[in-house]
Amino acid sequence: MIENASLLSKHITHGVYVIAVANGAEQNAFTAAWVMQVSFAPPMLAFSINPKHYSYKLLKEGGECTVNVLGQDHLAIAAHFGSPGVKEKMTTYPWRKGKTLAPVLADSLVYFDCKLDHLTEAGSHMIAVCEVIGADELNSGWPLLYAQTGTMDNSSELYKR
Ligand SMILES: Cc1cc2nc3c(=O)[nH]c(=O)nc-3n(C[C@H](O)[C@H](O)[C@H](O)COP(=O)(O)O)c2cc1C
Repeated sequence: MIENASLLSKHITHGVYVIAVANGAEQNAFTAAWVMQVSFAPPMLAFSINPKHYSYKLLKEGGECTVNVLGQDHLAIAAHFGSPGVKEKMTTYPWRKGKTLAPVLADSLVYFDCKLDHLTEAGSHMIAVCEVIGADELNSGWPLLYAQTGTMDNSSELYKR
C-alpha cells in the first residue's frame, strides 16, 4: 500500500448514487461513489462494486440495475443504502418501476436504467460496465458530492487492509 492512499477517496471528485439491482423478484440497492460515464454510443456507465456485496450477486445473476443520482438533501439515503446490516433496506424509501426489473428510487434527482454489458476485475473490486437504456429526471436539485459524505463509508479503515 502506498503512503497517503486514503487521499484518493475524497480528492478524486465523485457524486453519490444508489445503485439498485434485481434478479427476478429479488431486489437490493447499495450506495456507490465510484461511477462514471464511459461511452457516448451506445451510452454506457461503469461503476466499481465490491464482489462481497449482496448487490454484486444479484447484479451478476440478474444483469440489470438502475443508477440513481442523490442530491444535496440525501445524506440520510446515502447512509441507509451504504451501511451494512440495515433492516428493511428496500422498504424505507419509495420505489418506482423503470425499464428493467431493477427499481427506481423515487427521491433521486435523475435515474438511469441499465443492462450489464460485462464485468471486469480491478483489485479488490469488480468494474461493471453497463449500457444505459433509459433515463429520466425526477426531482430538481444539485447533486451530492462524495466529499460531503465525510467518514460515512469508513474508507480510511479500508486502506489499512
Ligand atoms: C458514500 C458511500 C460510497 C460508497 N461507494 C461504494 C462504491 O463505489 N462501490 C462499492 O462497492 N461500495 C460502495 N460503498 C459501500 C456500500 O454501499 C456498502 O458496503 C453497502 O452496505 C453494500 O450493500 P449490499 O451488501 O447490501 O449490497 C459506499 C458506501 C458509502 C456510504
